[in-house]
Amino acid sequence: MKIQKVGVVGCGLMGHGIVQVAAQGGCDVVVVEAEQGFLDKGLGRIEKSVTKLSQKLVEKGKKTEEQAQEMVTGTLGRITGSLDKADLADCDLVVDAIVENLEIKKALFAELGGICKPETVFASNTSSFPIGEMADASGRPDRFVGLHFFNPVQLMRLVEVVRTESTDEDVFAAARAFGEACGKTPVSCKDTPGFVVNRLLVPYMTQALLMLDRGDASREDIDAAMQLGCGHPMGPLTLTDYVGLDTTLFILQGWKERYPDEPAFEVPAILEKLVAEGKLGRKTGEGFYKWDGDKKA
Ligand code: 3HC
Repeated sequence: MKIQKVGVVGCGLMGHGIVQVAAQGGCDVVVVEAEQGFLDKGLGRIEKSVTKLSQKLVEKGKKTEEQAQEMVTGTLGRITGSLDKADLADCDLVVDAIVENLEIKKALFAELGGICKPETVFASNTSSFPIGEMADASGRPDRFVGLHFFNPVQLMRLVEVVRTESTDEDVFAAARAFGEACGKTPVSCKDTPGFVVNRLLVPYMTQALLMLDRGDASREDIDAAMQLGCGHPMGPLTLTDYVGLDTTLFILQGWKERYPDEPAFEVPAILEKLVAEGKLGRKTGEGFYKWDGDKKA
């Protein structure tokens, strides 16, 4: 089974990156958004990102100016934007990158199950929800996987490929091959909360937030400690701003509800407070830090 035509639902922070790496990998991509404004914004980010990446390859001597231009026009030429899910009907794979809300995702897959051809493989980019529940809602649990990319998708080299007990072997192999075509290293995961990365990363971020809230250390010192002491590219508070405080909160709240006795899934009060104030991190210009675009203000 070869995945050539890919659908992506959602062109936000994660969706636009998935669209881009799939198109860079040679797939034809249809991306569906709810509103033209969201679509335009996502497509604009892709153009900026692929232009930047291609120029970096020129600087490193890995591409000529002409090849870089081909990379940009080729990638953009393989992407089609749409406001209509019916345009996903003949895709080989459809990936969900919509809001982190299980009921909304289940409703999406139930709808896609009625729209897409029977062979279409479905995947969710969920950070934390059970793949099996969405697979059941889609009506085709054997053709369903998790494909969990990392932010920023264009630069992070991992994709977690999640299988349930119902996932067909060929579907799983095709999903791994798609991840490789996107330039990523796939790791195989079972359908467990947070898979591998978030099961380790989110409790670590939580501990940093609790530490800040207790006044054990300043935000700058917590971040510097993990950058310089452990070689992390970003400290945990900067990373929470980068991931989005709302996304981090949705993950923790979902886990807390499902696994109330798991002490690692504590919801820090400071996270609830900042989200209630609309301070969602880099995307709103303020979280634990103030942001001016990609850089701290
Ligand atoms: N497209 C193209 N170029 C991009 C880009 C993008 N999307 N994002 C950044 N760049 C460029 C920058 O513009 C910069 O270019 P320049 O050198 O010309 O200025 C270059 O890439 C390097 O960026 P930075 O200057 O910011 O330098 P870094 O070396 O710090 O790299 C980083 C950035 C790769 C994001 C690095 O800081 C990092 O690895 N951070 C950790 C990210 C991480 O842990 N992500 C996982 C989050 S968890 C997750 O996503 C799961 C979810 O479910 C919660």
